[in-house]
Amino acid sequence: MYKWLDERLDLTGLYQKVLRKAFPVHHSFFLGEITLFAFIVLVLTGIFLTLNYEPSIREVKLPDGRAVPAAYGSVLYIDSLPFGAVIRSLHHWSAHVMIAAAFLHMLRILLSGAYKKPRELNYLVGLGLLGLAVVTAFTGYALPYDNYAVTATRIGYGIANSIPWIGGALAQVMFGGEFPGSEKSIPRLFSLHVLWLPLLLMGLIGLHLVIMIKQKHTQPRYAERIAPGKILGVPMYPQQMVMMLILFALYVGIMAMIAGAFLAHPIEAFGPPTPNTPAVKPDWYFLWIYGILQLIPSSWEFRLFGATIGPEFIGGAVVPGILAVVGLLLPFVDTRKDKMRYMELPSEHPVRTSAVLALLVFFLMASLAGYKIDFQQQGYLLGNTAVLWTLVLGAPLLTFFLTYVLMRIFYGEKEKKALE
Ligand code: HEM
Repeated sequence: MYKWLDERLDLTGLYQKVLRKAFPVHHSFFLGEITLFAFIVLVLTGIFLTLNYEPSIREVKLPDGRAVPAAYGSVLYIDSLPFGAVIRSLHHWSAHVMIAAAFLHMLRILLSGAYKKPRELNYLVGLGLLGLAVVTAFTGYALPYDNYAVTATRIGYGIANSIPWIGGALAQVMFGGEFPGSEKSIPRLFSLHVLWLPLLLMGLIGLHLVIMIKQKHTQPRYAERIAPGKILGVPMYPQQMVMMLILFALYVGIMAMIAGAFLAHPIEAFGPPTPNTPAVKPDWYFLWIYGILQLIPSSWEFRLFGATIGPEFIGGAVVPGILAVVGLLLPFVDTRKDKMRYMELPSEHPVRTSAVLALLVFFLMASLAGYKIDFQQQGYLLGNTAVLWTLVLGAPLLTFFLTYVLMRIFYGEKEKKALE
């Protein structure tokens, strides 16, 4: 069988050319793989969910006589199937892991300078992947169509709609009409969530991996000591594949235990949508945007060339947009040549390391601002908008300067050596 296929497809050539590629071993390189595993699990569990979910808000009667939207009823049906609730939870928690792992993977790329020439293109593909993963998660938010999902999705609809000039059209494309209300919204979000965005993700992940194989991985620093100037690593097949299979099995096992122990998003706790908006917060990866929206006063509104620039647009689109532009430009601004075949060490790059830490503190402080109303209800000082603004802007600046000064004191010599 192998011989037959080899004669036609040159499997031996493929093995020599691709599968013998040296894959460097370093713990931080598993972050990209965990992102990939989470995506695979999302696709597999998503197929099961899609087969049982009804993308419609038509009214249906539950066995207990209650009239609920069909989407809501079908999620209750999924939960009632054998292992249905576990598979739905596995899907939900894997979405969290995929975004968290992709974010940590990006931090690794930033801290080790792997975005520099010749990897700019793959870095940009990676940024696109992170953005796409977040948008895909967002389109999944509304699908259970419970009171929580509808309220959280409405925030996103408001942000999309607030974008000057193109917001109306964008909201129309994404939500199929006004959300909530339009009957087309759930079918539209459903097709984006289960078809178009996953297809795009698959295509981009494929491109990301092909570029990575073609360009070769950056080498861990120990490779410089052991075999200077050479590519060091284990062959992709069989060694690396076996490691990946073990890690994948571990991932599925651990996540299945978590999904069995913690049921994700129990929709009956929120109930079907009602005119009353429950006090909900978005998931952690949107919390920082929600926090900024809490801080921007409603008076920040003006007209520009016939469009309204309002607080929702400033907090929900301009601030994330500025961060995205800085991220996109980074490899073209930081063009200092270092030992780019090898991973750079965070300790040798105080400005970059301090900036990454400051960014993390910014996300944390902006997420803290998401609890503004809760703090106010408890009478805490943190409920004060001015205090929260000071933290969101001041804490990252302080982090940057403190980290920079401490790194110059402790690692100054190391940095000089690296740049020599
Ligand atoms: C769905 C999201 C993603 C998946 C599935 C993914 C997957 C991977 C995998 C498996 C690797 C090889 C192992 C490793 O270095 O960790 C890799 C490498 C790489 N990734 Fe990603 N990645 C994703 C997102 C990102 C993001 C957000 C960035 C940066 C903004 C990025 C930039 C890179 C770069 C530059 C490399 C080459 C690293 C090197 O040569 O050292 N990726 N990715």
